[in-house]
Amino acid sequence: MSKTNTFQTSVLKHMVRQLLINKITDHFGVNNPLKCYTLPGDSLAFEEALYDIYKTRVKLEGVERDRLIFDRATSLIASKGLPMVLHKSDDTDFWSSTCDTWFNMIWLDYCSGWNQFQRSSLEHILTGEHLSFSRKNPLLAITVCDGYEFNRVEELELSVIDLLKSSKRSESKDRGRLVGIPRLLNKVANANRYSLVPQFIIRYRDAVRDKRAVPMFIFMFEVLRGKKTFNEKNIPVVNMVADYSAAISLH
Ligand SMILES: C[S@@+](CC[C@H](N)C(=O)[O-])C[C@H]1O[C@@H](n2cnc3c(N)ncnc32)[C@H](O)[C@@H]1O
Repeated sequence: MSKTNTFQTSVLKHMVRQLLINKITDHFGVNNPLKCYTLPGDSLAFEEALYDIYKTRVKLEGVERDRLIFDRATSLIASKGLPMVLHKSDDTDFWSSTCDTWFNMIWLDYCSGWNQFQRSSLEHILTGEHLSFSRKNPLLAITVCDGYEFNRVEELELSVIDLLKSSKRSESKDRGRLVGIPRLLNKVANANRYSLVPQFIIRYRDAVRDKRAVPMFIFMFEVLRGKKTFNEKNIPVVNMVADYSAAISLH
């Protein structure tokens, strides 16, 4: 991969991070302490931006399972002086072995489709032992790529069938995911007496970073105590695509 096609330099990813940061600062304010969990990769752009805003009020923690990326990220954390503890660990292992660690904001920026490990992480998080409700309800963002795996998620199939009754067939698969995924995640939360209230969904595809890039979804939730029925009405969806098809060439 060339130097210009990375997460660090992706214009689209930068805009996506900025949307999340705007939500965090709106929701928590900028003068309160913030404890944030991330999968930073070796970009650390999101973490650096939070540090710029919150200074000593922010504490960062996260995981990276790939040795090479972990080593690069560790030197970047040191050279940038970020208040971040990074564990060389798998995300699910972290959540299943950690206790007494509380976060206001969790961003699970996975780069894969939905799988049993992600579900397991979510179940650990939603036992509530890792969520801080001091001052404000916590925020939880999860990135998943739109893959065929979703076709095998039973609850999602049911959402699509539901939608087929009320909308055009061509729209239903897409809307089935947009509605079905948050509905599914809320069901996991409800089982633990929490609710996930969608704040917005970002659907993006970065064909500049990778021509074959698959579409990604980010679901941003506010976590509430207690069971609330999922309400699919009025969830803003931001659609973002970066590609060269409309690029201007000057010769
Ligand atoms: C999409 S990248 C993170 C990008 C970063 N958040 C940003 O804003 O540029 C995901 C990173 O998490 C790591 N990762 C993915 N799934 C993981 C898991 N289950 N446990 C630990 N690390 C994981 C990947 O190796 C990769 O470095």
